[in-house]
Amino acid sequence: MKKISFELNGKNVEIEVEPGELLLDLLRERFRLTGTKRGCEVGECGACTILLDGEPTTSCLLLAELVDGRSVTTIEALSNGTELHPIQEAFIEEGAVQCGFCTPGMILSTLALLRKNPYPSREEIKVGLAGNFCRCGAHEHIIRAVQKAGRIMAETGNKVH
Ligand code: FES
Ligand code: FES
Repeated sequence: MKKISFELNGKNVEIEVEPGELLLDLLRERFRLTGTKRGCEVGECGACTILLDGEPTTSCLLLAELVDGRSVTTIEALSNGTELHPIQEAFIEEGAVQCGFCTPGMILSTLALLRKNPYPSREEIKVGLAGNFCRCGAHEHIIRAVQKAGRIMAETGNKVH
């Protein structure tokens, strides 16, 4: 066992992890943050995406011990009580949520993209979300939602909440 400490959704946490324990398992099974989804488990679908120091990262491939001293953001950090983040609102309004399985990862990748580029083109959105697969085929709706959220966030100066 190895003790690690890291920032999880804005709070410092300390926990002992097993050798080989994956971040996805740590988040879901031990922190009960089940918004991070278990999909392919081989780094291809993006359902398990979290932000590591602000960058989209697949938690199914990352050893938990490697987040020691770093910052991890999961989908649970975005809403503020019952108040949804503008990206979440835009996804709902544009019909970008169908089964919802890809949605947490899509939204975190969207947040990372919009922080760098509030007005992404269609092509830039496709590149920014290339690691996230939607098996429901909601891509057109997702592109509209990302553009809408970017406009709203830029107009309101909203970066996280
Ligand atoms: Fe991690 Fe699919 S579950 S990429
Ligand atoms: Fe179902 Fe994307 S909404 S996988």
